[in-house]
Order: sequence, then C-alpha cells, then structure tokens
Amino acid sequence: MKLLEPHRDVSAFLATSQGLRIADARVETGALLDVIDPSFDTLATQVAMGSAEHIDEAVSAARQALAGPWGSMTAHDRGQLLWRLADAIEANKQIFGELDAIDNGKPMHVARDVDAVYSARHFRYFAGWPSKIEGKTIPVSSPGKMNLTKVEPVGVCGLITPWNYPTLMVAWKLAPALAAGNTVVLKPAEQTPLTALYLADLALQVGFPPGVLNVVPGLGRDAGAALASHPGVDKVGFTGSTETGRRIVESSVGNLKKVSLELGGKAANILFADADLDKAGAGSFWALFGNNGQSCTAGARLFVQRSVRDQVVERLAEMAKALSVGPGMDAAAHDLGPVISRPQMDKVLGYINAGQAQGGEIVAGGGQQGETGYFVSPTVMHSVTDDMTVAREEIFGPVLCVLDFDDEDEAIARANDTDFGLAAGGWTRDLDRAMRLSSQLKAGTLWINTWGDTDAASPFGGMKQSGYGREMGEEAIALYSQTKSVWFG
Ligand code: NAI
Ligand code: MG
Repeated sequence: MKLLEPHRDVSAFLATSQGLRIADARVETGALLDVIDPSFDTLATQVAMGSAEHIDEAVSAARQALAGPWGSMTAHDRGQLLWRLADAIEANKQIFGELDAIDNGKPMHVARDVDAVYSARHFRYFAGWPSKIEGKTIPVSSPGKMNLTKVEPVGVCGLITPWNYPTLMVAWKLAPALAAGNTVVLKPAEQTPLTALYLADLALQVGFPPGVLNVVPGLGRDAGAALASHPGVDKVGFTGSTETGRRIVESSVGNLKKVSLELGGKAANILFADADLDKAGAGSFWALFGNNGQSCTAGARLFVQRSVRDQVVERLAEMAKALSVGPGMDAAAHDLGPVISRPQMDKVLGYINAGQAQGGEIVAGGGQQGETGYFVSPTVMHSVTDDMTVAREEIFGPVLCVLDFDDEDEAIARANDTDFGLAAGGWTRDLDRAMRLSSQLKAGTLWINTWGDTDAASPFGGMKQSGYGREMGEEAIALYSQTKSVWFG
C-alpha cells in the first residue's frame, strides 16, 4: 500500500502546537486532546484541549468582538469577508481534504472535492445574505403611529459540531451565524478538531476581526457542556446525537438561550416495483453507503416491494462487495474509509450481531475488515423486520438494512413508525404515488427518485426527535437572527 505524502503545509500544521483559537491568540492548555487517525489506529497529533475556563475566555472574546468593529461593520463588508473566506477554503481545499482524511478517515479525494468544495460554496451563498436581511414596515391600526421591524443578530453563538463531516458541518452553522452578524465560539467534535482550527486561522488571514470566530476543541461533557450552559452565550446551534441534543436543551434553561438542533435519523427509503430499478438500486445503495453510513440522513431502512426484492438485494450485495475500502490518505482513491473510532466500530459490529441474532440475513460484509484501523466491511442485511433493533436505532455505519413490503399504504405507515423525522423518500415512476409520498412521509427532507442532495439555498432540518430549526437557505438566517419591533409616535 502506498500512502499519500501529506502536503507540506499539512505536515507543518500537524507539527506545530495547536493551541485553542481565542481572539487572535493561540492559547496553550495543560491538557491535550489526542487526534487519532482511524485508518491506522495511530496518534496523528495532539491539540490543546479546552475546558470550562477556556470556554469562558472564548465567550468573553466573542462578546467583546460584538461590541467592536464587527458589530458596526456594513453589510457589504461582512458579505465580502464571507466571500473571501469561501475563496480561501477553495484555494486550500487540498489542505482541508488531507486534514479531514487524517482525523476522520474519509477518502482524501472526497474530503477535498466534496466536503471542502461544498463548504466553500456554503460560505459563498451566505456571503450574499448580509445585504438582504430586511425588516418590514407593518401597517398597524393605531392612528399616527409607525411600526417597523429590525432584524438583528442573536449575539454570541455557541456552535457544537459532530465528527462525520468535520468541515462541512462547521460551514453549515458558521456561515449563516456570521452572515447574520453574530460572533461565534465553536466546539468541534473531539474526534475531529483539525479543520476547525485551520479555518479559524484562515478567517483571521482574510480579515475577520479577532474574536468573531473562536475555536475551542474539547470533550463534550466538559467544554461542550460549559458552552451549552454558559450565561454569556445567546444561542446554541448543535448537530449530533438525539441523546446529547436533550442534554443541550437541559443545559440551556439557565439563561433560556435559543437552541437549534439537528439530531439523529433512521430514514426510510421506499423502493417500489414500478421504479427505474437501475437508478433506484444504485441510488438506494449510496443513500446508505455514502460517507460510510455515518450520515444523519442515511437511507438506513430500505423498504423494497416484495416482487422485486430478490433482484434488488442481489444487486446491492454485488455493489457492496465491489466497493473499494481503504485508508483516507492512501494513494489509491477509495470509495470508503474506516468508521470514526474504535467505540463506533464496536457499536456498529454489535448492531450487525444483534441483527443476525434477531433473524437478519447477511448477503455482503458482516464484520471487521483488515487488522489495522477501524474498518467495517460494507454490509447488506435483508429479512429485517420493523421491531428488530437494527430497524429502530441509528447504527451510523456501513450497514444497509432491507425490509420487505407489499403495498403503498403499508410502506408509508411503517416508514413513519419511528421517533425520528430527518429524511425519508422513495423511488417510483408513478407520479400520483410520488405526490402522495411527498405529503404523507413525515420528515424534514424528502428525496423522491434521488437521495442525499443538499444545497445551501434549501432548508434542512428535522421533525419529531430529529430536532428543530432549519439550517440553510433563508430559514438559516432566521435561525441566527432576532426581530425587534420598533414603534414611532
Ligand atoms: P454526540 O452527539 O455525543 O457528539 C456530537 C457533539 O456534541 C460533539 O462535539 C460532542 O463533543 C458534543 N457533546 C457531547 N456531549 C455533550 C454535552 N453534554 N454537552 C454539549 N456538547 C456535548 O455524538 P457521539 O458521542 O460522537 O456519537 C454517538 C452517536 O451519535 C453516533 O453513534 C451516532 O449515532 C450519533 N451521531 C449523529 C450525528 C448526526 O449528524 N446526527 C453526528 C454524530 C453522531
Ligand atoms: Mg457522545
């Protein structure tokens, strides 16, 4: 196996001490966070690990920045900074790609050409917003009075992000938060702090005033919890597990900070016999295996109509066996990398065993792959039924569960029988059926004859226990803004 030589700037970045980014300082800490390369189960580097006191410092820096030049910056100039940051991300996409490949394990070409490029696009979309955040003049029924609304930033935003898309999930939150004029304390996932730190350096380089973006890597129960409960934080934007989402809400009660949550999922994907089976088969395959199953929108419950089940399962198994799986930084461009960590690998393998014990049949994969790193062989399991653990809980790994169904009403009812509501969808050539799916499936994003598309302009978020608030598009601006009603007499 030939490994990719890291870009010299990446080597330099990994070699230098990675302090917390607070205002324009790199703050050293006593405690260090190990950054493990999941492709090899080795220590890639260590970064400073923030605790509650560092969160406190970062929140003060963010609050000061609100009162500084950032707070009075024109919409034009704010937009320009966002645009410059987008350019800087794109120009350095190789570095983002390699850093994400090292700390997340995803194939470098994917991290570079998808995650980094889409992060840049995200900033570019939101760069257009500052000059378009408008209030209204309201036709109030009080003689001689005028009423108007001003849309203002919420204040200091605490952003807590997950490890599955280390750069992109930061971009999804940071771009609208900054476009709306807030300042930010970002706590990236402890497994994947590297690109968040690098982004903070780029933000300073392109001219963001110090303190607008502060990055404090640390543990969830420590730095994360401190940020969620901090009285100086006005809003928390969180993506991660439903369990942690509940904790964040509990932590927010002290100062009643605003909270938006993008949580887990268990998306149902319904493949009807009348679909274009080639397109539906390949689409349903990538609906789960994209990002190695580590997506909140993964099409984890694939309902296949019984008359086409055998041929679809056969096709899925062939595709799974043909996948190329290998290290993120390999010279070969693999389809998939390892899962994020040893606990995650053990959890995924545990689900595979539980599924088999409860009657699921494996037609591809089914265990750990190789001896080093956290690789799980791409797994397809059929004969899964609704009550099985693998059909109810989020696996978050490369395990596609296939369930059978007979008719549409049954499929829709079973698809909706979940506590989650992030994504759902289906495949059919029947337009009436497609229309019924679009109104009857209960989820924040539906994909019909496609899967996984997102766009900076299109709202994204969950129903039920998949969270609340919509990121992206104009709804994301609303999520990071508050309205003031002003009366004149
Ligand atoms: P997690 O939800 O615990 O972690 C996500 C983020 O929350 C990280 O930055 C973490 O440090 C932070 N965090 C953890 N506890 C916190 C607390 N008490 N207060 C404030 N912040 C806290 O997810 P974890 O433990 O990494 O993975 C567990 C499972 O969660 C996965 O197996 C997967 O099923 C799910 N998950 C879902 C994601 C999604 O995109 N919806 C992303 C990551 C994980
Ligand atoms: Mg956790």
